[in-house]
Amino acid sequence: MFKKLALTAALALALTSGGAFAAGEGGHIEDFDFSFEGPFGSYDQQQLQRGLQVYTEVCSACHGLRYVPFRTLSSESGPGIPEDQVRAYADQNFQVFDAEIDDLRNATPADNFPPNTSLGAPDLSMMAKARAGFHGPYGTGINQFLKGIGGPEYIASLLTGYTGETIEQAGTVLYENHAFPSGYISMPPPLSGDDVEYADGHESDMHNEAKDVAAFLMWAAEPKMMARKQAGFVGVVFLTLLSVLLYLTNKRIWAPIKGKKKHG
Ligand code: HEC
Repeated sequence: MFKKLALTAALALALTSGGAFAAGEGGHIEDFDFSFEGPFGSYDQQQLQRGLQVYTEVCSACHGLRYVPFRTLSSESGPGIPEDQVRAYADQNFQVFDAEIDDLRNATPADNFPPNTSLGAPDLSMMAKARAGFHGPYGTGINQFLKGIGGPEYIASLLTGYTGETIEQAGTVLYENHAFPSGYISMPPPLSGDDVEYADGHESDMHNEAKDVAAFLMWAAEPKMMARKQAGFVGVVFLTLLSVLLYLTNKRIWAPIKGKKKHG
């Protein structure tokens, strides 16, 4: 029986770890360690701020973040940037279209990050959830325990997965990338490892930049992750207590009958 179980488990693991992106040369996802993994993991405020810096200075040239309101940047469970700084950040870095004046104006904390469709790059608001790459074939989630959440690892792997090779396909240049499922992506390598000078003095090599912006995008896609984990934890504690109480109650209720039986 145990042997059979172990075999099934081994088979399931083998299936889930290789399945999702098996095609072509792409699909190699590296396991980056993130502070928000595991049942008690939480976002690292400094890292989110660094990731925001990478997004602002590099990615926002092509990618929008249309579902993320600027005001949430001051959230304590998010980047935690003081409100006056958020106001200045939005004002200085982004313009939004205002239907009332039928023109562009500087963004305020009440606005969302603007969309950016100029180069056909996908919006990044939900990308970290949309590319939860290695959950395994049938949504078993086993790989979440083994390899992390999926989406942020995929994004970080994508950004560091360029080989330097290019091909041309119907007039479009495609860049070889080990993480992208088909192996070739039309996004030119956005990071060189020398793109930002972090405001907090953190070392900004390619690995760190990729990891920080991936963490920031995870927060963008799931700003309430910590609240959700906390609610889950309270639920588990509550159910454990309830189980203990029910067990004891059950014992007490049946005690007279079980007791009699024992004496025949
Ligand atoms: C020069 C423009 C440009 C810049 C700068 C850029 N991207 Fe992209 N990105 C693109 C384009 C175009 C695509 C669509 C590629 C495709 O589907 O072949 C894309 C696709 C993506 C995808 C989706 C890949 C998928 O699985 O479909 C992610 C994630 C991504 N970019 C993240 C980033 C991050 C993070 C940055 C900043 C570090 C960034 N990009 C900077 C143009 C850009």
